[in-house]
Amino acid sequence: MNLCIIGTGYVGLVTGTIFSHLGYNVVCVDRDAKKIDGLKQGVMPIYEEGLKELVDANVAAGRLTFSIDLVSSVRESDIVFICVGTPPGKDGAPEMKYVRAVAEEIAQGLNDYKIVVNKSTVPVGTGELVRSIIQENLTQPVAFDVVSNPEFLREGTAIYDTLNPDRVVIGAVNREVGEKVASLYQTLTDTVQITDIASAELIKYASNSFLATKISFMNAVSALCELTGADVEQVREGVGQDKRIGSAFLNAGLGFGGSCFPKDCLGLLHTAKRYDYDFHLMDSVLRVNEEQPLRFLARLREVLGGFEGKRIGVWGLAFKPNTDDIRDGKAFEIMAALIKEGAEVLAYDPIAIDNSRKEQPAATYVDTALDACKDVDALILVTEWREFKEADFEEVRKSMRLPVLFDGRNIFNPKEMRDKGFLYYSIGRADA
Ligand code: UDX
Repeated sequence: MNLCIIGTGYVGLVTGTIFSHLGYNVVCVDRDAKKIDGLKQGVMPIYEEGLKELVDANVAAGRLTFSIDLVSSVRESDIVFICVGTPPGKDGAPEMKYVRAVAEEIAQGLNDYKIVVNKSTVPVGTGELVRSIIQENLTQPVAFDVVSNPEFLREGTAIYDTLNPDRVVIGAVNREVGEKVASLYQTLTDTVQITDIASAELIKYASNSFLATKISFMNAVSALCELTGADVEQVREGVGQDKRIGSAFLNAGLGFGGSCFPKDCLGLLHTAKRYDYDFHLMDSVLRVNEEQPLRFLARLREVLGGFEGKRIGVWGLAFKPNTDDIRDGKAFEIMAALIKEGAEVLAYDPIAIDNSRKEQPAATYVDTALDACKDVDALILVTEWREFKEADFEEVRKSMRLPVLFDGRNIFNPKEMRDKGFLYYSIGRADA
């Protein structure tokens, strides 16, 4: 079976690599010639643990190739996956121009029956949109089907998630077409749900928005904990032990970032608006997420008596650990506010510094976690990298001018940190 994957971002590159690992012949296509040249030479455009090794092995085995020629790659394939980005546009609606452009080009490569699978996160109705664009642009009268197969992988654990999916969702016009796509996953899971196309498209938005809702709910509870003296960690444990709720995605912190949750909540809201449904629950989920870093900054401002002339260290720039992705990362909101109010910021991340420089050039980027503590009035932990959990806090405290530690992810024990001499603050815990 020959597969063509269009788009070599997190979803496309990981999906293509795993399919080649499962034994299919895969060509990964991208219009970015630099990216494709790099991939041909074994240079990964993203950081994802284990990806390079898998790419190298499958390229060597002759099952994985890279190309900028979409039309001829489609021609040689049985199933074509659309994995291009759908970033939020100005009004919060997902930007569909890449999906549209790719659909037009796919039409030119359709020389016999093929299945076109959409893996990009897209609004309800995109399956039909892609079908009609392809139909209008066909260069010869061939049959084809469009399928929706949303992706649920997380950055940082993308390879593991793709090899161990909780479920595979396939939205198809009929069962036969759905089962053809399902067969690609047969060695990975028995939990395949074949749905209609609209439901598959909505499952992706609903899943991500629900997870974001869990996070915002606990963040709102964390605000209440700070006011009442309750401890959000104890509340989380008690709430999460109810099997109907589950303990995952209940960690209070600075809020959710990344390329999916903020965008998909907005996308769901936008879809609701299009159909005149007031999905105000999602408004609140996003509002809590915006307020969380503001509440955190307000406490820091109060502790330091303002930011003017202060020197502040920031640990962690990636939106979460084990990725160099900084999209919608909370560090940038925080650094922008600190710099605007007159602080000097020393920032460190194990791998996201290059990306961060472009995003926030006014910060000073340093080479080690300890360098970010030198003579600072406060240190803020934004991303819970393992390296920070294992830091030598004796050294950290000695480097700092004032031992003020703001933990934006609740990763340290408040008592231990106080015993080590820190003025320690975290989120929703009885330590403030
Ligand atoms: C998410 C979904 O999990 C994945 O299924 C989908 O395909 C893409 O979107 P990702 O954005 O890679 O994956 O990261 P995830 O691990 O889900 O974390 C998202 C954000 O939520 C991060 O900013 C993280 O710090 C935050 N988070 C997560 C919390 O604040 N608390 C939690 O309990 C969990």
